[in-house]
Amino acid sequence: MAKAKKAIRTIGVLTNGGDCPGLNAVIRAVTKTAIMQHGLRVFGIEDGYLGLIEDRMRPLDALDVSNILTRGGTIIGTSNTANPFGFKVTAKGQEKIADVSEMAIGNARKRGIDALVCIGGDGTQTIAAGLSKKGLAVVGVPKTIDNDLYGTDQTFGFDTAVSIATEAIDRVHSTASSHHRVMIIEVMGRNAGWIALHAGAASGADVILLPEIPYNLKAVCRYIRKRSQHGKRFSIVVVSEGASPRGGSQTVSHRDKNDPNFPERLGGISHRLLADISKETKLECRATILGHVQRGGTPTAFDRTLATRFGYEAVCLLTNGRAGRMVALRSGKISSVTLASVSGRQRTIPTDNGLMEAAKAVGTNFGV
Ligand code: F6P
Repeated sequence: MAKAKKAIRTIGVLTNGGDCPGLNAVIRAVTKTAIMQHGLRVFGIEDGYLGLIEDRMRPLDALDVSNILTRGGTIIGTSNTANPFGFKVTAKGQEKIADVSEMAIGNARKRGIDALVCIGGDGTQTIAAGLSKKGLAVVGVPKTIDNDLYGTDQTFGFDTAVSIATEAIDRVHSTASSHHRVMIIEVMGRNAGWIALHAGAASGADVILLPEIPYNLKAVCRYIRKRSQHGKRFSIVVVSEGASPRGGSQTVSHRDKNDPNFPERLGGISHRLLADISKETKLECRATILGHVQRGGTPTAFDRTLATRFGYEAVCLLTNGRAGRMVALRSGKISSVTLASVSGRQRTIPTDNGLMEAAKAVGTNFGV
């Protein structure tokens, strides 16, 4: 006879990686569902996996999560440099990278935490898969404005980022038109162009440059010149931070060679484009980097509801003995996939993407 699964009594919840709108909505849904529907205890682990390693956790009750649904950021903090499977420690005066996952799990167990909800992007889910392999009951919740998580059709945070970027591009549009300029707007997204594609298409950008399609500078300039020859005296170029010229490389804004947990940060491609487009077309150009504005503030109604459904589903998976999974949105329905299947993978824009096809049909140039 199969051994009965041990009932869950205490859930730990953590938010890890870059923050994004909707994190508090998930924390609220997890906490309220766990306490009000199942009579469980909940701990908020501070600053993501760092709090698990450093043993910083606090009990959360329903009152702690009241009034946070609409709030940006995360009430329990986050960090994006702490990996329990490769953490910088100092031993005998020497810095080294060590696997501290047993200690991190031990910190959770000490407080009676027998299950974890890990809210984060691809790095967070990969670590969650590792913890799950070690026997901890873990469920992942896919978060990121980049929308690049494998296994789900959409992450929460993306809709808000697209709305903010679209509004910003609309505003740049009117000043571009007054001054007859080429305006280059750089959006976030790492190696996936989802924000650029959706915000660019929503705001009627003339050119959209994505990491998935290395751009041909000559083709971009030809397109912009043609517009101005046809009396369109301004152009809007939306560029994803991960875009690169054909045969060239991505533009890196920060790197830390000494820290293996600090992935290179992309950024600055808009300035490179500004120099190249103005040299080639002789038109006046300006560049705007939207940056962290895309990640801050209150989530859209869509993100609030998606985050609430994800948080609720995460607790359902745990109480139904279905740990080791990540909640997901698939074909409009909430479901889940195994953590092992998403671990180490990213979701970029496929060549047959429907929105890209429609944007091409209405004349948008994708740098080719
Ligand atoms: O993954 C979310 C994201 O905002 C990316 O779009 C961006 O490249 C990165 O995080 C920026 O990271 P940080 O906030 O650490 O500079």
